[in-house]
Amino acid sequence: MCGIVGYIGPQEAVPILLTGLHRMEYRGYDSAGLCSVSNGQLIISKRAGRVADLEKVLEPNEHSVKLGIGHTRWATHGLPNDVNAHPHTDASGRIALVHNGIIENYLAIRKQLENAGLQCKSDTDSEVLAVFIGMLYDKLGDLELAVQTALQEVDGTFGLVVVSTVDPDLLIAARRGSPLILGIGKDEYIVASDASAIISHTRQVIYLAENEMAVVRRSGYTTKTIANVATHSEIEEIAFELSQIERGGFAHFMLKEIHEQPSTFHDGYRGRLNIEDGKVRLGGLSKMQDRIREAKRIIITACGTSWHAALVGEYLIEQLARIPVEVEYASEFRYRDPIVNPDDVVIAISQSGETADTLAAVREARRKGATVLGMVNVVGSTIARETDAGVYLHAGPEIGVASTKAFTSQLCVLTQFAMYVGQMHGMSPELSRTIAQHIDALPGQIQEILDRADEMRTIAKQYARSTNALYLGRGVHFPVALEGALKLKEISYVHAEGYPAAEMKHGPIALIDENMPVVFIATKEELYDKVLSGIEEVRARRGKVIAIATEGDEHIKTVADHVFTIPSTLSILSPVLASIPLQLLAYYVAVERGCNVDMPRNLAKSVTVE
Ligand code: G6P
Repeated sequence: MCGIVGYIGPQEAVPILLTGLHRMEYRGYDSAGLCSVSNGQLIISKRAGRVADLEKVLEPNEHSVKLGIGHTRWATHGLPNDVNAHPHTDASGRIALVHNGIIENYLAIRKQLENAGLQCKSDTDSEVLAVFIGMLYDKLGDLELAVQTALQEVDGTFGLVVVSTVDPDLLIAARRGSPLILGIGKDEYIVASDASAIISHTRQVIYLAENEMAVVRRSGYTTKTIANVATHSEIEEIAFELSQIERGGFAHFMLKEIHEQPSTFHDGYRGRLNIEDGKVRLGGLSKMQDRIREAKRIIITACGTSWHAALVGEYLIEQLARIPVEVEYASEFRYRDPIVNPDDVVIAISQSGETADTLAAVREARRKGATVLGMVNVVGSTIARETDAGVYLHAGPEIGVASTKAFTSQLCVLTQFAMYVGQMHGMSPELSRTIAQHIDALPGQIQEILDRADEMRTIAKQYARSTNALYLGRGVHFPVALEGALKLKEISYVHAEGYPAAEMKHGPIALIDENMPVVFIATKEELYDKVLSGIEEVRARRGKVIAIATEGDEHIKTVADHVFTIPSTLSILSPVLASIPLQLLAYYVAVERGCNVDMPRNLAKSVTVE
């Protein structure tokens, strides 16, 4: 979703804001804007397009500017055009605001403003809020109070930063539902949606809590609730390095992140899994250990790629721990009054830790008394903080909008969780050791696959002009097929569907002709022969078969048009390896089609609105 940034301090604000916007551009990239407060004036530049487009039209400013705000937009209300871009101002042009989130009652507030003779220029809910704050300021004569009063009347979500000419030594930041971090530097402060915009200034941060605001001056800051109750937020330290959010020689963040997987996967089990005896220690869950042991049922909830990881998790947990697992889209779970009992364990999986639907599902499950665990990548994110306990993925910042390394890290953590629960219920030490040893081989095996990325590039070139694709897999590879299809859709805009291989004959087979590539995950596991039958059925209809197969499988070469082999492992771990070639396939198809791989159209990295 949108990325917001604000700066107050002794340095020139504009270059700092621009760097911040570039770093957060992966969050939203249909428009960008800046507002600086200079010599009693708000200087605003904004336009549809990328941050680079904004830079071209920046107003030259002869004054030195030490206060400002910036925004990258992912449109919710109103087209991505210059007028709808942020920052927005109040009617008098003295107060400016950047906003991430949705003001749900904006129509009612707009009516109130119109009755007072105040008009909005854009179609956005955010401008309504800016004008509303301005109207309240005129009444109350105090900007902080005006912001608080406005936010108490607002339904919906916001991460926002406000600056003004009425008090050029004041920056106000507030959040509900959308993330916001206050970076505390030496005599300077930078507020942003994302730590990536802060890290080159300071590592000391406060993660603002729900309904919390920061009132920041050059001389210091205070935090309080929007209802004006003082809060005492802890200062925390950003854990990642600047180099982790840079491309480091790769053409795209996505490619870099695909290639990071040998080490990110390893980071997911380092210090948790003892390879010698197979014992799993998940420190983050220790306080909930008894509740987990007593769980009668586990519900996993997530969205998008994380939901696919959850489906793999279902197989893993049921197989290793023999506890029933249900997987639900968070967006459905939250609204259907789910039956959740206090002896259920609910797991929320999220790369960003900010997905609005997943967060709402967490709250719903907690309200119903379940133990709620998080499997989250972004440290300090809302889901990480609102769950009872959790396990971080440790995949490092993921910038490419299409998730890759976070997915394999989710599988890493889910596998260990399944072992952890299994070990509570008497899973044999031999099995634990065998799995641990195979897990420990995976980073090297991922590397072997990545070393042959060019083979996939050659295959991708041949299918780059296809308009459809089918992905089929059985058992634990069905979610892998779904994930492969999602990757292709997301970044290359090719229509793709994932199915359990045996379902093909119940519908998708009607689509097969000589123009249809069908990707089979056909590794040598329990249902291999049945997958082969599916391949024959596709061949009989002249479909093109791309098989992801196990190294040494000679037979498959005689029936598939293309074979990409992966090393052999246990079938429960095989999704980790099978998903890598599918990531590469999607990546190379997208590159071949000239798509913007890291910032695919219409998508956002962290979906903080419903
Ligand atoms: C968005 C992203 C997807 C992601 C999904 C869930 O739709 O574009 O790549 O899988 O959100 O995100 P989360 O951060 O909760 O894993």
